[in-house]
Amino acid sequence: MKEKLEQLKKEFDKAIGNSVKKEDIEQIRVAFLGKKGALTSIMKEMRDFSLEKKKEVGQMVNAMKSYIEESVFEYHKNIDEKEIATRLNKEWVDISWPAYPAQGTVHPVSTVRKELEDLFTSMGFEILDGPEMENEYNNFMALNIPEDHPARDTQDTFWLKNGMLLRTHTSPVQIRGMEKRKPPFKFIAPGKTYRNEATDASHEHTFHQIEGMVVDRDISVANLIYTLKAIISNIFGREVEVRLRPSYFPFVEPGFELDFRCQICSGKGCSVCKQSGWIEYLGCGMIHPNVLKNGGIDTDEFQGFAFGGGIERLVMMKYGIDDIRHFHSGDLRFLKQF
Ligand code: PHE
Repeated sequence: MKEKLEQLKKEFDKAIGNSVKKEDIEQIRVAFLGKKGALTSIMKEMRDFSLEKKKEVGQMVNAMKSYIEESVFEYHKNIDEKEIATRLNKEWVDISWPAYPAQGTVHPVSTVRKELEDLFTSMGFEILDGPEMENEYNNFMALNIPEDHPARDTQDTFWLKNGMLLRTHTSPVQIRGMEKRKPPFKFIAPGKTYRNEATDASHEHTFHQIEGMVVDRDISVANLIYTLKAIISNIFGREVEVRLRPSYFPFVEPGFELDFRCQICSGKGCSVCKQSGWIEYLGCGMIHPNVLKNGGIDTDEFQGFAFGGGIERLVMMKYGIDDIRHFHSGDLRFLKQF
């Protein structure tokens, strides 16, 4: 009996040999363990054995059965693993790679613009958009800028062949905004502006401004100071001191320039603030009655303040950027830092 089982084992090993197909393995399993299988017929022979022999042979038969079952399981497992490996080889994807060859980052001007929009929205301001190609009326006339004002000089303005111009500031959106709403209202208008200027470290021909306009009853310079101080402090994440200096813009009266404490040297004086400790930041003032009238607003009942300033200047101070020309350079080494 023992020899028979050993013979059977040899036959099984030979049969299963280098089987690589699951069907072949299944056939071999049936040939040995099935109802009419080789091992089953050996077990049948055991019926006539004495109890002692049954016990002895039974153990050998069981061991043989386990051996075949385990081998079959191992062969199946090997085939499964090989299939998975082949599939992985074919369908392999490195998930650590970026989705696109060069992944972009948000431009720092966009980041600060978004921050400004969020801050003003939280204070109840609307956000308006205006066209970059403007007419002379909105950019100059309606803003009380007289015909002979130097700002109108062709040296400063990009005039287009169709008689239009590239807006030199975001202030024309004041006119557009007033046309469509009744006071009280408050809105900001961030966007691109253009000036026909020679460029240097602090001047660009194309830059961004943010305009603001608030029209209501009982508006004073105090409201203007409060609003701008709150916004600038929020952008820098700490309280920032501001001050007003008298200045002239045809569309405000009185007009001011707002400065804030240099955030590079904390006001001690450095090359960025030209040793003054202050950064000249934006133009502002109480809206000139002529401008309100051009917008159809009753100046006996309403007044307001307006402001307009460059966004790049704020970004430069926030991130310590020393040359405004970096923004449009398209230099990836610059852009990738953000
Ligand atoms: N438009 C002015 C500029 O470009 C800034 C300004 C806006 C001043 C609103 C006063 C009020 O310099």
